[in-house]
Amino acid sequence: MKSGDYIDVLPKAIEDKDLEDMTVVRCIKLDEHLLKSGMEDNNIENYTRSLRYYLSKIMMELKPEDVVLDVGGGDDGFASTLQNIVKTIYVNDINVKKIYNSNCIVLENNVFDLNISDYKINKVFLGHAFEHFWGESDIKFIEKVGNELPIGGKCCIEPLFIGQKYIEVIREGFLHDKQDDNPIRIITKTSMFPGKVEENMGFARIYDIQSFERRIKQIAKKCGLKITIYSFKSNDKYLPDMIKYKFKRKEINYPYRMLILEKEK
Ligand SMILES: C[S@@+](CC[C@H](N)C(=O)[O-])C[C@H]1O[C@@H](n2cnc3c(N)ncnc32)[C@H](O)[C@@H]1O
Repeated sequence: MKSGDYIDVLPKAIEDKDLEDMTVVRCIKLDEHLLKSGMEDNNIENYTRSLRYYLSKIMMELKPEDVVLDVGGGDDGFASTLQNIVKTIYVNDINVKKIYNSNCIVLENNVFDLNISDYKINKVFLGHAFEHFWGESDIKFIEKVGNELPIGGKCCIEPLFIGQKYIEVIREGFLHDKQDDNPIRIITKTSMFPGKVEENMGFARIYDIQSFERRIKQIAKKCGLKITIYSFKSNDKYLPDMIKYKFKRKEINYPYRMLILEKEK
């Protein structure tokens, strides 16, 4: 399929109730004032990043002894919000774009070339990176987490893109392996959703229930990972507030969801 605009037409949001048969879906209700002050504590003047970082941190129940890995960090923006909260912070990216002033340790390589257990990492974050794992690398990543996290270790993947159709959005000219789940393919010249090829992206995936079941849930189960999908509400309304959120496409970005994997056995 070829067009610059199908990304605005084909993705269709899915409601929490329609996901419930498939897996555990929890909607977390947040007090408006706690949410506001928690986001302000991040010291990031950007609603989108502040919201995502705040929710990621609270859901991962960070402790002073934690050793954290931020996969596809891009920069140490997220890492800098974890200083003084955890013991060690590793930031991983194929190409680290910028390092501000945090005390993180940079691992500049493909995540598939590093072993999580070598660094005694027990909490892994992937912010806006998992959707760019093309071909079978989403499956490979779940296996990696399952094999390399210690028991009790956790991984936070956010946002989780899941809708009514299984879709791959591909930057025109980007070549990647095809796999057998038969996605709808949108080739785009213009959409920002797949990211830039020159920044190690050019591809983004939105699951439907069946592809999520086969590519994530079954693999997680095989590796001893418990999975939970979270959505969030404040004042009885789902987050994010789309007026303030940077990524406007409601069928893709609303409600915001997060996937937490927890190593059980
Ligand atoms: C959209 S950026 C996300 C930046 C940041 N984590 C955030 O929350 O805004 C995705 C990042 O993932 C990185 N990335 C993609 N595939 C990767 C891989 N296999 N290993 C390490 N980093 C990867 C890219 O280089 C890019 O910097």
